Amino acid sequence: MKKRVGILTSGGDCPGLNAAIRGAAKALYEMFGDEVEIVGILNGYTGLINGDYKEMNKSDFYGILPLGGTILGTSRQPFKTIQVVGADGVDKVANMIKTYNNLRLDCLLTLGGNGTHKTANLLSQKGLNVIGLPKTIDNDIFGTDRTFGFHTAVDIASEVLDRLHTTATSHSRVIVVECMGNKVGWLSLFSGIAGGADVILLPELPFSYEKVAKAVLKRKADGRNFAIVLVAEGALSKEEETLKRKTRVKRRGGTNVTPHVTQYIAEHTGIETRSMIPGHYLRGGTPSAYDRVLATEFGAYAAKLIKEEKYGLTVALKNDKVTCNRLEDIAGKAKPVPKDYDLIQYAKSIGISFCEG
Ligand code: F6P
Repeated sequence: MKKRVGILTSGGDCPGLNAAIRGAAKALYEMFGDEVEIVGILNGYTGLINGDYKEMNKSDFYGILPLGGTILGTSRQPFKTIQVVGADGVDKVANMIKTYNNLRLDCLLTLGGNGTHKTANLLSQKGLNVIGLPKTIDNDIFGTDRTFGFHTAVDIASEVLDRLHTTATSHSRVIVVECMGNKVGWLSLFSGIAGGADVILLPELPFSYEKVAKAVLKRKADGRNFAIVLVAEGALSKEEETLKRKTRVKRRGGTNVTPHVTQYIAEHTGIETRSMIPGHYLRGGTPSAYDRVLATEFGAYAAKLIKEEKYGLTVALKNDKVTCNRLEDIAGKAKPVPKDYDLIQYAKSIGISFCEG
């Protein structure tokens, strides 16, 4: 009997999405041969809402293993408005179910991050056969040790830090770098260590401005002529810890904390200080070999779940083994870096300062 499998990628793109799509497709063709039909839903849940899709052929999956981004396109459909009928009168959830049924899908693979998983869970509760695959450079999906995209972003961010080292040393400067990662500090922690940052500011460890300046001055006193300060985009000071996001943004005069850290360092150390924000650069380009392997494994595992007709699940990596979680058990849960995480302790033991307030 024919199996019709829908695939969509939703939320921010990341390296490894195409490798995962290819992994799932290749495993499905191996298992079902001509009995499988794959439907690419275009631009994430937006495509499912609007009925934008493409019947895929085997050849659509050729040559995409090293390709960054997503061949299916993506978009953000915030979960908080997904169940709200907008001014356009579109019932997004009803439309998604309609498209699924119109396309006669047997199941839907949703590749995405936290928001994607919340909607995947909702669709699963509405009776659709859904399987999630965890992707994001943030590594913040509950119940999986790793998400694909993270490893590549760590590589890119580390390279950014390597390159900034030469300017920082040559000019005897402090360089403050802001790293993506949304509300968590996984990407900053790993790339800060890999790229030799001297100070790392994480959302999980609210910082003291005074301690940041002190750490920079201590480095100078130790005879080093430069410092690299890595700020996670979600980092916040001790004073900001209890503030609502809106109040914090108002006080900062914007969302970013980096300009404030930069200015404080310059004013309180007297050292020439610059800042840079690599932003989406960290999400671009070809996936690392590790991410290609992880994404392929996740894709192949999802195909296995389809063969076994096991749905309402999302693929996960636990203790180096690919497994799965129930969507309802992970959707909407956060995965911050634990405050007592071993890597933070090791980083401290080599002199990296987190400047907790
Ligand atoms: O979730 C991935 C991510 O790159 C976050 O690190 C970042 O906060 C966010 O997406 C940026 O979103 P956008 O691409 O919509 O600007």
